[in-house]
Amino acid sequence: MGDIRNIVILTGAGISAESGLRTFRAEDGLWEDHPVEEVATPEGFARDPDLVQRFYDERRAQVLAAQPNPAHEALGRLDREFSGELLIVTQNIDDLHERGGASRVLHMHGEALSAWCLGCDARHRWQGTLRDGPACPSCGQAALRPDIVWFGEMPYQMDRIFRALGQADLFLSIGTSGAVYPAAGFVQHAVQSGARALELNLEESLGSRNFHETRLGPASELVPAWVEQVLGG
Ligand code: APR
Repeated sequence: MGDIRNIVILTGAGISAESGLRTFRAEDGLWEDHPVEEVATPEGFARDPDLVQRFYDERRAQVLAAQPNPAHEALGRLDREFSGELLIVTQNIDDLHERGGASRVLHMHGEALSAWCLGCDARHRWQGTLRDGPACPSCGQAALRPDIVWFGEMPYQMDRIFRALGQADLFLSIGTSGAVYPAAGFVQHAVQSGARALELNLEESLGSRNFHETRLGPASELVPAWVEQVLGG
């Protein structure tokens, strides 16, 4: 794999599953016992802000209690040792990539540990709760919401993502079902730009046919093996 100079990696909930954080589309289709649409839409937040704030207060506490697994740590090693271009685009709102040692990480769906003020648009690192309406550190208003991209909202840094996809010579997808756009369309864009596409997932995904190769198994086994392959040359 010596000819690889530019890698874009897309990760989904599957890479954090072995850290104890639930994926979205398990067999019951619920996310922590809630229909995803109920707790991950602006309409849901307008309908019942307390429910949604509590939901993300629980997610935030879970993220803080979780630990990176070997897959996150392997990508941290790749970030340190790979001399080419690398961008990890994650759909996940946890900080396990960063705690696993990666720094070139882009959270396209926002972050559980960030709060967004609807009063002054400021964003703040946040580890506590939001259900009790704390004051925004910048403007003092009680207008903080989870800094999460909900259904119907625009994911973050899409221009930067598509520029990276256009320049990649390897696109790697880890632990995502390919059920949600725009992330599910990234593989076609990368392949059209000439990248090789590899998928590492527990099972076939909705997008598997778009990849040159799919390897099935748990991320904690497949990702370290793949990083060794890339770094080992
Ligand atoms: N190792 C690798 N893959 C795994 C593992 C594991 N241990 N466990 C589960 N998976 C795979 C599943 O087979 C599935 O294909 O991870 C994928 C998880 O899919 P989803 O639950 O749909 O999560 P994701 O693809 O990240 O969802 C995308 O949807 O609800 C929105 O914004 C939310 O970011 C989320 C987006």
